[in-house]
Amino acid sequence: MEDIINKSTTSLKIISLIIMGMVGVSSQAEDVDQLNNEQLDSRLSTIIKTSKLTGKPHSNQPIPNISSPKAQLGMKLFYSKTLGGDNTTACVSCHHPMLGGGDNLSLAVGVDSKKPDIMGVHRELKKDNFTRVPRNAPTTFNVTFWQRVLFHDARIEKIDDKGIHTPDVPYPTVDALAGETLVQAQARFPITSSDEMRGEYMDKSFNQTLRRALAKRLQKNWLTDFRKGFDDPKGSAEDLITEQNFSEAIADYERSQVFINSPWKAYIEGDKQALSDSAKKGALLFHTAQKEGGAGCAQCHSGDFFTDERAYNTAMPQIGAGKDNGVTSTNDYGCNLVTKKEDDKFRFRTPTLLNVEVTGPWGHDGAYTSLEAITRHMLSPVKSAKNYDSKQLTQKHIALQDLKANTQEAIDAGIHITAKPNINKNDVKNLVSYMKALTDPCVKDRACLSKWIPNANDNDPDGQTLHAVNGKTGKRL
Ligand code: HEC
Ligand code: HEC
Repeated sequence: MEDIINKSTTSLKIISLIIMGMVGVSSQAEDVDQLNNEQLDSRLSTIIKTSKLTGKPHSNQPIPNISSPKAQLGMKLFYSKTLGGDNTTACVSCHHPMLGGGDNLSLAVGVDSKKPDIMGVHRELKKDNFTRVPRNAPTTFNVTFWQRVLFHDARIEKIDDKGIHTPDVPYPTVDALAGETLVQAQARFPITSSDEMRGEYMDKSFNQTLRRALAKRLQKNWLTDFRKGFDDPKGSAEDLITEQNFSEAIADYERSQVFINSPWKAYIEGDKQALSDSAKKGALLFHTAQKEGGAGCAQCHSGDFFTDERAYNTAMPQIGAGKDNGVTSTNDYGCNLVTKKEDDKFRFRTPTLLNVEVTGPWGHDGAYTSLEAITRHMLSPVKSAKNYDSKQLTQKHIALQDLKANTQEAIDAGIHITAKPNINKNDVKNLVSYMKALTDPCVKDRACLSKWIPNANDNDPDGQTLHAVNGKTGKRL
């Protein structure tokens, strides 16, 4: 169906181009690939003005500095296996700064990893089973800029000015214990997940009981650190080491990870040399609506943070174990699992694209392992989903037996993205060049990132700091 529509609009466009050519008017739908450098700069300047782009996303809260005592405490906690129920897994197990704030895996591997310190593509499972975590670990970089929702299915959500909804309370009520920021609210959940950090520890107890037990664990050795972190030299372990405080400190560490100094920002600030010709063409395609000859990406990836924070069905190929919905267990219904609304089936939140070059694999389940492949999907979703090639996956042990049927179910539910008419052979290349210009060079530079990674000799008070290593070279990340 989509292909038929595409073909007929394509031929209509060709006919109208011929007619317009004959009567001498230029088409509104210009071919971006034909523009020269000056024309590109001029078109982009208009877009930057009308879309009010500054290169700097807005944060609702003051941004913590990584050298602040609370963020330093947060870093220790983020890297500590003490917060993992069975003492094997830390937050960093799936969110390492050297791996784009993620793990470089399609689907995250938590408590069932074979060697917990190995991170990246060589991270393996304990048993020859299928990967249990159903989704791709998103980046922690720039999380402070989310204003409304966190998680692929938006299950942490700011509800107007009332507070924050979390999975601990019925949708869409507010969780009184969520904390001050979305990031703090989120940090209270990975520790409760049996696949991610909890394992079998306190298996049957409520989330809040588990959190309190983990706070108790910390009370043993962490008092000096919490006193420093919360600037309370005389505070007692019971008062200072609470689940509210440890999640707040972790959130400060994460929220200090601001990496926005990209070539695109430099370009907006006036450096016309900051982007290559191809990146400028990509920018124009990205920010121009389909009906005007563009690719229409900014319709959803809007503003300086490249997301409208809404959720859509883009027919992402459904690989992996899926997320239990009580009926089938291998598909993932996305936001529908949160809201139970039929219309929310297969909707996932629009991700930010800042530093997207280093945050692969891409999609909520990491189905695409190259930026080119996910871009082709975004340009022509149904075609790409139907022709999806799982050979691109580098990770073993991903369940694929229902891939075709599950993806088809998403397509049949009705997708919210239209294929770009007249895909030019250079569109993918240009869009990828543009998206690579959204990378802050710091995220590719070990020295620049070192502030967010403990030193080789550092350890937390329990001796539980996870120093991640590359499985192939054996070197620290
Ligand atoms: C086993 C791997 C794993 C561990 C360990 C883990 N995470 Fe995650 N994290 C994920 C996955 C997978 C998601 C996406 C889940 C979803 O959307 O359903 C996620 C989502 C997030 C997000 C949301 C980002 C966004 O853009 O919405 C943040 C922030 C985050 N994790 C921080 C943490 C913190 C803090 C910890 C430790 C308390 C932690 N993670 C532990 C895998 C992990
Ligand atoms: C209708 C809204 C919409 C439009 C238009 C759109 N996207 Fe997306 N995009 C999304 C959503 C939603 C996701 C996440 C889907 C998922 O994971 O299931 C996504 C995911 C992505 C990702 C993966 C990011 C990551 O971190 O995994 C990239 C890259 C991307 N889009 C680029 C583009 C480009 C380039 C265009 C234009 C050709 C575009 N998108 C058009 C909504 C949109």
